[in-house]
Amino acid sequence: NTKGFIFDLDGVIVDTAKYHFLAWKKLANSIDVDFTETQNEQLKGVSRVKSLEKILSWGNKTISEDEFMALMAKKNDDYLSYIDKMGESEILPDVPKILNHLNENNQGVALGSASKNARKILQKVNLISNFQAIVDGNDVSKAKPDPEVFLIGAKALHQKPENCIVFEDSVAGVQAANNANMISIGIGDKTVLSEADYVFKDFTEISIEFIEELIKK
Ligand code: G6P
Ligand code: MG
Repeated sequence: NTKGFIFDLDGVIVDTAKYHFLAWKKLANSIDVDFTETQNEQLKGVSRVKSLEKILSWGNKTISEDEFMALMAKKNDDYLSYIDKMGESEILPDVPKILNHLNENNQGVALGSASKNARKILQKVNLISNFQAIVDGNDVSKAKPDPEVFLIGAKALHQKPENCIVFEDSVAGVQAANNANMISIGIGDKTVLSEADYVFKDFTEISIEFIEELIKK
């Protein structure tokens, strides 16, 4: 039995959500817009362009196209300054255990992320060789909750969507998995990710037996 396991990156494999938060907060404050953790939650899984649009609308700001591009570049430069310092120690607990088990048992393993920095981050934390396919922000035109990113991932793994399992920490991502007709596994808070088929606080709560059940399903 072979299934396709598709992993989101930020907040699932590595805790980069905190770096996105710091970079967006700095940017928002630089244009006199407040930015809270609650607002940050709404940016999880959301593309860079859409995130800036939301921040501007929260702050009631309108800016020129040129300024928009400049702010996006500034945010990413700041974000990359954190990414450059990343290493294997920032892989979230028990992620390698699950990835190794899937690879050793010849399951399909793909990345499905909205980030254009996904490959760079996987290289930094030395996990890139665990993925048969990588679908990231450079490959998609429709953002989560649109299922596009996961459907491309399933295709790359030669799996039908209904035989794929998605790990996601964002509401938009869980919805994207559900819209793709895949099994959605939320990583994080049960109340936030209530639309997911299963929710776990993190991978330490996911047993090999549970993974084996998903493979047999
Ligand atoms: C992920 C993160 C978002 C981020 C998006 C784009 O979905 O959860 O917070 O905005 O990727 O990331 P990028 O690295 O391309 O700016
Ligand atoms: Mg995420």
